[in-house]
Amino acid sequence: MSSTRFLTGITTSGTPHLGNYVGSIRPSVRASLRADVESFYFLADYHALIKIDEPARIQRSTLEIAASWLAAGLDPERVVFYRQSDVPEIPELTWLLTCVIGKGVLNRAHAYKAAVDKNTAAGIDPESDVSAGLFMYPVLMGADILMFNAHKVPVGRDQVQHIEMARDMAHSFNHRYGDHFVPPEAEIEDNVATLPGLDGRKMSKSYDNTIPLFAPRAQLKKLIASIVTDSRAPGEPKDTEGSALFQIYQAFATPEESSTLRQAYADGIAWSDAKQIVFERIDDEIAPLREVYQALLDDPARIESILRAGAAKARHIATPFMGRLRQAVGLRDLRTQSSKTAKSVKSALPIFKQYRENDGQFYFKLLDTDGRLLLQSTGFASPKVAGQTIATLQTQGASALNELKDQLQWGLDVQTQDIDTALQALRDAKTK
Ligand code: TRP
Repeated sequence: MSSTRFLTGITTSGTPHLGNYVGSIRPSVRASLRADVESFYFLADYHALIKIDEPARIQRSTLEIAASWLAAGLDPERVVFYRQSDVPEIPELTWLLTCVIGKGVLNRAHAYKAAVDKNTAAGIDPESDVSAGLFMYPVLMGADILMFNAHKVPVGRDQVQHIEMARDMAHSFNHRYGDHFVPPEAEIEDNVATLPGLDGRKMSKSYDNTIPLFAPRAQLKKLIASIVTDSRAPGEPKDTEGSALFQIYQAFATPEESSTLRQAYADGIAWSDAKQIVFERIDDEIAPLREVYQALLDDPARIESILRAGAAKARHIATPFMGRLRQAVGLRDLRTQSSKTAKSVKSALPIFKQYRENDGQFYFKLLDTDGRLLLQSTGFASPKVAGQTIATLQTQGASALNELKDQLQWGLDVQTQDIDTALQALRDAKTK
């Protein structure tokens, strides 16, 4: 396949914020417009269950995130846009991957380690309140990615480790079962991949420092006004380095606009004026999308049907692929015996096996290609005599059976015809 497959997901655990927009939604939507790209976008609602046990919030968040992506310009006709939990092959694949990834690898996952470290620091049981779901998080994410053999996964830096683990799972699986998975790569949009939040730390639901993507204009203004700055007065030169406000601006502005603001910083612009500039610039980009967003939120049935159509497209790929994977690992229809393992027992030709028994005598048997016993010899005093008897059978075929009948026992249910066929196959192979 020539086109590159992009895939990304957002956990449906909150209201989309500017960090999600800049780090994931916007670059993904842009990439989806490229002709050489095949895109997969999904709502990671199974991932949401790891963090959230409020069903209404999961549902609300799924609606909001779907509406956000659509408002940001995602074209569901052009891409595969679906809800993770509509594709049962994903949890099914999760189990196959669970069985090829080392537990030790998962022990090192950042999210799990952070939870354990936090407990340890608090002096409580390290595993306290750590669900197995949190521990397994990278495997579910690996399944999301490998299910569609995505080449590139646009994510924030904090997710890079998960992509590496997905690569690890792809390699381990391929090593055991043959080439089924493409090892994916993380795609980070540099310098804007992680947006700082109101307090200057990474904008994240877990820090409660986010700016909702579609906050009404007045609220957006208020939130931007609350971004931390230092206490330099108007007229004092200001640093762009380490300025959350400046970094947020950069994520929306052109390079020229950014250098204009950098100059204004150097010239001592008042923080309130800088914030006004940042607010207007962001609102310029967001305001048109905000309207579309509102209209979508008011029509959940439309979103539901878009997602269902997307799931059908996703499963069009996932269902047959999962079928192949089941076959590869040995979860198979019992009526299909001719597949790989059967073949490895099965040999291309019937075979004479010579061996010596505890009684010191020399024996042979004739097995057919399925390993079924056709003939069993009585004991011979020397290997040479056993070998001569085999040679007679091979050259004369079934016609020698009568003459050798004292030296041979038929296998259970074996007909002369079966033996003849086997010996004929051996002769044919020789004359080839
Ligand atoms: N873990 C991602 C996040 O919290 C969401 C996610 C789930 C994801 N599965 C994915 C992202 C697969 C990319 C690919 O941001």
